[in-house]
Amino acid sequence: MDIMTLNEQILELKKELGKSIVIPAHHYENPEIVEVADFVGDSYKLAADCAKIDAEFIVFCGVYFMAEAADLLSSSTQKVLMPDIEARCPMADQIGYQQADKVFQKISGCTTRQIAPVVYMNSTAEIKSFSGKYGGSVCTSSNAGKIIKHFLDQDKVVFFAPDYNLGNNTANELGLKDKEIVKVTSDFQCVGGNPSQAKIFIWDGYCYVHKRFLVNDILDLRTKNPGIKIIVHPECDREVVINSDDSGSTQKIYEEIKKSPTGSIWGVGTEFNFVQRIAWEFPDKTVLPLRKSICGNMAKITPEKLLKILQSVQSHLQKKTALEGIVQVSESMKNNAARALHKMIEIVEK
Ligand code: 13P
Ligand code: SF4
Repeated sequence: MDIMTLNEQILELKKELGKSIVIPAHHYENPEIVEVADFVGDSYKLAADCAKIDAEFIVFCGVYFMAEAADLLSSSTQKVLMPDIEARCPMADQIGYQQADKVFQKISGCTTRQIAPVVYMNSTAEIKSFSGKYGGSVCTSSNAGKIIKHFLDQDKVVFFAPDYNLGNNTANELGLKDKEIVKVTSDFQCVGGNPSQAKIFIWDGYCYVHKRFLVNDILDLRTKNPGIKIIVHPECDREVVINSDDSGSTQKIYEEIKKSPTGSIWGVGTEFNFVQRIAWEFPDKTVLPLRKSICGNMAKITPEKLLKILQSVQSHLQKKTALEGIVQVSESMKNNAARALHKMIEIVEK
């Protein structure tokens, strides 16, 4: 069966299911998925949009933590489903509740100030509930600066997890000094900075997709393409961000390129499938990847699996069969995790 036939089937079934389903998709999804999605965005836009919809079934095309966030922000009568629940973000699994608790105790030993856990959207519901329990917030790459600043302005010390690069890039952009930024390694050692003067402690997590980009990739593109503008995701190493012209979330990258003049040349440091789609969507610009780095987990969502999950919704509605691919955050963490997510939305929207 070729892609066109599959996508036609998806669209037909979607039409049949009408308002009962909605399909959100992250920017990194394959173009065939983006084509049939109801809305596409970065992880903040998707979470905020999911909080506003009332479809009974949210068929989420992205990775697991994003579907968990949709579940946390939707009502108890709505159901979040994924075409493949094995599509997980490895970075989100790089810190667990007990590790976070241990870091929190360690930071408590270094400061008399209150500690605010700011956790990246790319974390488990368990870590979001940790943040909510201690009065912290979730953040995404589109608002990390705003969220961290909110707590620093209250004279709190921030514990940021799991992505070191996003925490470090944001702290530097907020003007924090080297001594005020401390890295906490997986064996709970404080590296760099001065723990007694630190304003932010950052867990040493990383994204393997963005770790691959090198300063040399940028230098190469600049040599071969005079006038090129480089834009990267803040999950990239600090040196890569410093050597770029701009950085930001996937939505920002998309919009910057979209609004740039015809003939612009861009070098983009983020997931390859997304960079390729931007190039196809805006043929009046030249859009080049820094290198080919693919998120294998996002790519697990295929049109075949999407069609299957839609068929299972149809069968559930017609014959009361069991639903497949349900994503449901357990009751024990729901309240605190939702609190941390709502805190982010409150800070961003005010
Ligand atoms: P965005 O919030 O920028 O879409 O980032 C999500 C992500 O997983 C990037 O690797
Ligand atoms: Fe996770 Fe990296 Fe994939 Fe984003 S690109 S979902 S951070 S593994």
